[in-house]
Amino acid sequence: MRKLEFPKDFLWGTATAAHQVEGNNIHSDWWVWEQSGGGAEPSGRASNQYELYKEDFQLAKSLNNNAHRLSLEWARLEPEKGKFSLKEVAHYRDVLKTLKDLGLVTFVTLHHFTNPQWFAKLGGFSRRKNLAHFENYVKFCAKNFGELADFWLIINEPNVYVALAYLRGLWPPQKKSLLLGSRVFLNLARAHRRAYKILHRELPTCQVSSAINLSAFQPKSKNILNSLFCKIIKFIGDDLFLFLTRKSYDFIGINYYFSKKVSLTISKLFPKPQEMEEILLDGRSDLGWGIYPRGIYEVIMDSARRLKKPIYITENGIADEADAKRGKFIVEHLKWVHKAIEDGADVRGYFYWSLIDNFEWAFGFKPRFGLFEVDYKTWERKPRKSASLYAEICKNNSLL
Ligand code: BGC
Repeated sequence: MRKLEFPKDFLWGTATAAHQVEGNNIHSDWWVWEQSGGGAEPSGRASNQYELYKEDFQLAKSLNNNAHRLSLEWARLEPEKGKFSLKEVAHYRDVLKTLKDLGLVTFVTLHHFTNPQWFAKLGGFSRRKNLAHFENYVKFCAKNFGELADFWLIINEPNVYVALAYLRGLWPPQKKSLLLGSRVFLNLARAHRRAYKILHRELPTCQVSSAINLSAFQPKSKNILNSLFCKIIKFIGDDLFLFLTRKSYDFIGINYYFSKKVSLTISKLFPKPQEMEEILLDGRSDLGWGIYPRGIYEVIMDSARRLKKPIYITENGIADEADAKRGKFIVEHLKWVHKAIEDGADVRGYFYWSLIDNFEWAFGFKPRFGLFEVDYKTWERKPRKSASLYAEICKNNSLL
């Protein structure tokens, strides 16, 4: 095989989110929900990264990474409406400074599925007037962390958040309402646009996006009706957020996990990933998600063509406790990322999800996405085989 070199200055990293790794996120809506029996199990101390971030960032460094993605936890920073915690500001400043001192470029997410309890009680993003609270938080973050954040991701996967929390009722606040879901979606788009302006006003040269979950779509059969239906589902499910917010991006953050085969059955407008017929190439992950590496090429090329912005893959990963498929998963996806670059897409970085095992939302701790395995009793981190493979790729800036 010929050596596949990535562009000079390509960013290599891993991604995490506060609630999934930090632990004791007691002021968030997820915490209350988990305590009242929501999801498979409570997040508790998660992967204890609140205490172990320095060690964890050394692990990132040991992977020869030159970038890292994490999220700030709004519920920690503003546990009560309008009252920001100086202790948590100092904490996150140290977190980000640690990354910078290690020479890692920082990608900072502002909202990754969780809300402060007080914000959720006010109706969260379902009420337009609540957006002022989010804007206030964004402004606060710009002022307090501005020089430590190289890239900002305003909202993580707005489409997934709305689908799971407001349409399928699987995440807090467990609603199943198209009307409410649509309202939240539109407000998230407004929140993105306003946050984009705020960040640019406070930090004129900053780089801003949201992290958009995109899937590769295919009509199940090629008849005209089905193809049209597939295009509509793709537009509503994946492209609409970008469409509503398209003038507010300096780059595009793409999270890619799987593909969707669409057939014309209205009852399956929002199927669970396990229920969906996928384009399978390499079997499934422990969560039952079909592995389709070519899909990453399809979503990159589609976004590159439509949006004409630099692209960073802000998440791509697999739940694979035995670590039997992860290495191949990474290599195959990267081959397609490389091909997208050869075919003209301006892809500038790749973040594997995730650095360490963590709390996989309503599924609890069972799915293991980490390059490092976490022992949830001792907090010990152990590299999986795939960690050294990823470290080699990052070191060489190429696939051998
Ligand atoms: C989310 C992560 C999640 C990952 C794996 C993404 O949709 O941003 O928080 O852990 O997928 O499910």
